[in-house]
Amino acid sequence: MFDLNNKNHRIGFIGAGVVGTSLALALNQFGYNVGFIFSRSIKSSEIFAKLIPGCNVVLSCDAISEVSDIVFITTPDDEIQNVASNTKWRSKQLVVHCSGASSLDILDHPKKQGAQVGSLHPLQAFASFEDGLLSIPGTTFAIEGNEFVRNYLTSLTTDIQGKVIYLNSQDKVLYHLTGVMMGGMLSTLAASVSDLWRLFGYDRDQGINALSKMIIQVGVNLRELGIPDAIAGPYARGDVGTVKKHLTELLNRSPELLSFYCEMALIGLPYAFEKGNLSRKKFDEIQDLLLSFKFKGDSK
Ligand SMILES: NC(=O)c1ccc[n+]([C@@H]2O[C@H](COP(=O)([O-])OP(=O)(O)OC[C@H]3O[C@@H](n4cnc5c(N)ncnc54)[C@H](OP(=O)(O)O)[C@@H]3O)[C@@H](O)[C@H]2O)c1
Repeated sequence: MFDLNNKNHRIGFIGAGVVGTSLALALNQFGYNVGFIFSRSIKSSEIFAKLIPGCNVVLSCDAISEVSDIVFITTPDDEIQNVASNTKWRSKQLVVHCSGASSLDILDHPKKQGAQVGSLHPLQAFASFEDGLLSIPGTTFAIEGNEFVRNYLTSLTTDIQGKVIYLNSQDKVLYHLTGVMMGGMLSTLAASVSDLWRLFGYDRDQGINALSKMIIQVGVNLRELGIPDAIAGPYARGDVGTVKKHLTELLNRSPELLSFYCEMALIGLPYAFEKGNLSRKKFDEIQDLLLSFKFKGDSK
């Protein structure tokens, strides 16, 4: 149906948000023909089209479908099925969504109309198209689809310097929550510990400024040393006294974070043990300490 080496297929986007714009810019940069955009608001469509030479704004999903060989639906997850179901599709056309949590069942309508369907999920946190574009090289993209679709999306992802993994429908949610726990929840953790800086006279911006440097280094350590060698912290070193000081301080000054600290340290202990820095005795001692403090903050 498609020649995998041909970059001249006409590509259309439905949804001019951060992911759509970043992906379209990357495709354009690597010679793909991003020709059409339709978004809910004309303003978003116009901004998108201005960024991509030769891209035209069209006024409906049907119009995108009519003129595009490949259509990326980059609306919020909750809108994908709605968009897919209310658009007239064709055979010899590929329809792709970029949701990590949804499978291909939400593209049933295009499939019934003869289109090929797939999903391409970048495992990355997109906040702006400028940073989004810069983050694409080296980012892992999860692909779902039949063999033809997988081959095409693999070639496209490799062209924009992404890495590829393949997923089955039943593993999509588990895969997606790893990204949310790594990205979204890490940023929530960063927000809550940055707020603690207010308790010793600095504001949260100063906190995140200092702490985000650590996040970057932790990322580097994890990539370069792997697990368990990159696992660090007083519980990983067997510093029982320091762990006890932390728990007492949290109980007194920020009890709402106490059970979280305990839970994370309890999850981390087996990795610290695997690393070989922790004796069985220290492991048990720290585990008992954490378990004894875990619920103490709840009543405060
Ligand atoms: N953000 C991330 O970090 C990330 C990472 C990986 C995957 N994803 C996935 O990428 C997809 C897009 O997410 P996003 O973060 O780019 O969202 P976003 O920035 O909120 O952009 C969504 C865009 O879709 C447009 N839109 C909404 N409803 C529409 C409709 N019915 N018809 C046409 N356009 C519509 C919006 O419209 P207007 O601007 O025109 O009003 C907006 O421009 C989602 O499936 C998400 O799960 C996101």
